[in-house]
Amino acid sequence: EKANTALIFDMYKDRFTALPNQKVAWLTKNLYLYQNHWYPSETLFSIANYMRSQDIFQANPDDIYLASLPKSGTTWIKAITFAIVNRTKYKNHSLSTHMLLNSNPHDCVPFIEHEILRTKPTYMPENHPRIFATHTPYTSLPQSVIDYGCRIVYMCRNPKDVLVSLFHFMNKLRDDSLGLITIEEGFNLFCKGVTPLGPYWDHVRGYYKASLEHTTRILFLTYENMSANTANNVKNLAEFLGCPFTEEEEVAGVVEEIVKMCSFENLREVNKHGNIPNGLPKHVFFREGRVGDWIWSNHLTSEMSQTLDQITKEKFHGMDISF
Ligand code: A3P
Repeated sequence: EKANTALIFDMYKDRFTALPNQKVAWLTKNLYLYQNHWYPSETLFSIANYMRSQDIFQANPDDIYLASLPKSGTTWIKAITFAIVNRTKYKNHSLSTHMLLNSNPHDCVPFIEHEILRTKPTYMPENHPRIFATHTPYTSLPQSVIDYGCRIVYMCRNPKDVLVSLFHFMNKLRDDSLGLITIEEGFNLFCKGVTPLGPYWDHVRGYYKASLEHTTRILFLTYENMSANTANNVKNLAEFLGCPFTEEEEVAGVVEEIVKMCSFENLREVNKHGNIPNGLPKHVFFREGRVGDWIWSNHLTSEMSQTLDQITKEKFHGMDISF
C-alpha cells in the first residue's frame, strides 16, 4: 500500500501541482483547490488518491457509501452501518463476538481513497453489500457511484463542533516542531472555506441537494439527531439500507445492542491502544463525542460564534437543516 501511495502521488503530481494552492496552518503541505474544494497533499490523504479514485474506482450497484466531512461523525456512522449490515454474520448471531469489539471502525469500513491503493481488495466478489466511506464532495464522486445510483448516507454536523473537533485533531497529529495551530487561525480558515475537503457549507449543500433529488438513495443525517435519538436513526438507517430489523430482532433488543456497541464510550474503550493500518493512533478518533462541545470547551468567542451562525444562515438559506 505504501509503495502504491508513492506511485500514485508521482503519477498525479503534475496534474495537481498545476492547480491553485495555498500553504495554510492546518497542515505541513499545501491544500489544492480542485473542483471547488480544498484537498490536502499529505501522502496519507492526498489529492492524488482522490483523483485516482475518480479515474479507476468501480462501484457495484448494491454498494453502500458513507459520505462526510472530516470530524462530522465518520467513525460513528462507519461503526453503526457496519454493525447493522453485518448483524447476522457473527457466531451464533451473537453481537458479543462482533468485529467492532476489537477493531477500529476504520478497519471495518475502508475509505475509497485508500481502497484504490490496496493490492488486494478489501471485499471478495461474494461479499456484498460492500460498504465504503468517502470524504469526496458529491459532485466529485467516482462516476460509477452516481451512474449505478448507489445508496449514499451523508453525515453532517454543526459547523462549530466540526471546527473545534478539527482544531483538536490537527493539533494532535501535528509535529511538535511546528507549534500548535491557534483557534483564531483555524476559525479564519474555516470561515474562508479553507479546510480539508471544505468549504464546509458547499460540501454539506452538495449532498443535501442530492438527497432531495434522490430521496430513496441518499439519506441525509445529522450527528445531532443521531445523538438525540440513536435507536430511531439506527432503525431508519437499517430500513434505508434494505435490511430492516424484524419484529423478533426488536423484541430481542438488537437495536439497543447496536446502539450500545457503537456508543462513544464503548468505542473509545475498545480503541485506547494501537494504530489503524495507515499509522494513525486509534484513539485520536474519540475525543469528547458530544453535541455542542464548542460551548463547553469554550474555544470560540461569542463574536466567532455569531460570525459562523451568520455564514451558516446565508449559505444554508432555504435548506431545512437543524443542528
Ligand atoms: P469530537 O472531537 O467533538 O469529540 P470523524 O469520525 O468524522 O473524524 O469525527 C470525529 C468526531 O466524532 C469526534 O468529535 C469524536 O469524538 C466523535 N465520535 C467518534 N466516535 C463517536 C461515537 N461513537 N459517538 C459519538 N461521537 C463519536
